[in-house]
Amino acid sequence: MNDQLIIFDTTLRDGEQSPGASMTRDEKLRIARQLERMKVNVIEAGFAAASNGDFEAVRAVAEAIKDSTVCSLARANELDIRRAGEAIRPAASKRIHTFIATSPIHMEKKLRMSPDQVVEQAVKAIGWAREYTDDIEFSAEDAGRSEIDFLCRIFEEVIKAGATTINVPDTVGYNVPEQFAATLRTLIERVPNSDKVVWSVHCHNDLGLAVANSLAAVRAGARQVECTVNGLGERAGNASLEEIVMAVRTRRDIFECDTRIDTTQIVPASKLVSGITGFPVQPNKAIVGANAFAHESGIHQDGVLKHRETYEIMRAEDVGWSANKLVMGKHSGRNAFRSRLQELGVVIESEEQLNNAFARFKALADKKHEIFDEDLQSLMSDDSSEPQEHFRLVSSAFHSETGETPCARVTLSVDGREQKVESCGSGPVDAAFKAIESIADSGAQLLLYSVNAITTGTDAQGEVTVRLSKDGRVVNGQGADTDIIVASAKAYLNALNKLQGSTERLNPQV
Ligand code: KIV
Ligand code: ZN
Repeated sequence: MNDQLIIFDTTLRDGEQSPGASMTRDEKLRIARQLERMKVNVIEAGFAAASNGDFEAVRAVAEAIKDSTVCSLARANELDIRRAGEAIRPAASKRIHTFIATSPIHMEKKLRMSPDQVVEQAVKAIGWAREYTDDIEFSAEDAGRSEIDFLCRIFEEVIKAGATTINVPDTVGYNVPEQFAATLRTLIERVPNSDKVVWSVHCHNDLGLAVANSLAAVRAGARQVECTVNGLGERAGNASLEEIVMAVRTRRDIFECDTRIDTTQIVPASKLVSGITGFPVQPNKAIVGANAFAHESGIHQDGVLKHRETYEIMRAEDVGWSANKLVMGKHSGRNAFRSRLQELGVVIESEEQLNNAFARFKALADKKHEIFDEDLQSLMSDDSSEPQEHFRLVSSAFHSETGETPCARVTLSVDGREQKVESCGSGPVDAAFKAIESIADSGAQLLLYSVNAITTGTDAQGEVTVRLSKDGRVVNGQGADTDIIVASAKAYLNALNKLQGSTERLNPQV
């Protein structure tokens, strides 16, 4: 059996379907570049037919990525497939992933189609997809609750029509490992020409079994796993990429396969996705949680000091944990700045962007003498001082004293025109948000406010995430600064600027 396990990352598609995790085109591009650096085989960049914004994001990823296959999701209809085909056209290696539901409940209640019609539609979909690429994935949505005879029938037909990857999703996270493995075994045994395609699984985590089910399927012969960074995804999420990759790497004796993933890129990817979406990683999360390699008990510490493998089955540095690396200071020059960004894989699109970022770097170095990689990453995602932003923070002053009501004075540039306002609140952050809101008058609802220190030390930058909702749209804003009130104001403005962006969504999410 093939010993290569294909890692299909769907952070940008299923991951984005987590409420509140929507990402801009540029954020998707940054994540896609990190996924490429991590060497994932396939990047599902989005669902091109969902909106013009989704189409543009898939197209931008297809243009930028060279070393991973770029894929778009499409329902099994002609319009979706043609949008997907157009969006991925520029990619060096491209895939269309088309799907239709196969469980009795979905066919009868959602699609209102007979099983015969579903098979016919699936076969037609493969035909349309073949006009764009030979790399075609077919998913039987809700396969986890579908009848095995019907799955065998539809898979036989789509393979005949030209599908090259057959995906078995446990869409609602209903399966348990032994049962899911048995399903895979039966399908691989019974479907004609099953050895001509790659068998794939896509598990959701409603019962906390997404990784266990995916790994059981790998033992049964699946050679592609669909997963997301940090297990982000619809409802309780998808199988987590880092857990799948490290399980097969650490227990090759059990899984008899391996991935091509550069595991040292796992923690940077986790931090990037968490920072962009505002979804924090729980401290005890396997592989990427802050405590994943921390030993508290004296007995454990003693054992690890004597011989690391007494209590550690993986090395922290192998998954990308490293002590904060001091990279630069206030005397570092523009060339050193540029080359460190290049080493970090940050793409600088113009001299103007470099100049703006370098000015921000100098301002930060004046406040904070030691600048770490994490500071540079955050600096590059900070677009709050870009002149084209609708709302921009010009200046701010905050007053907070024991026994006094905290107040904020904020000057904003709104489409280039300055406005100044003063407000009070229960704390300085509350006062700052009220001041901003009295100018912006967005009426948006604040869903989340969270602060994290980017590095260690009391001079660290605070990274703030603000999640706002308006008219059914949810956006995340980020801001970083050594002053957490300023970081909070920047994050709020960043979210408001995103709400100003396009609201169009042509099709409902999958
Ligand atoms: O969960 C699911 O079934 C999906 C499919 C579109 C693969 O996300
Ligand atoms: Zn899914």
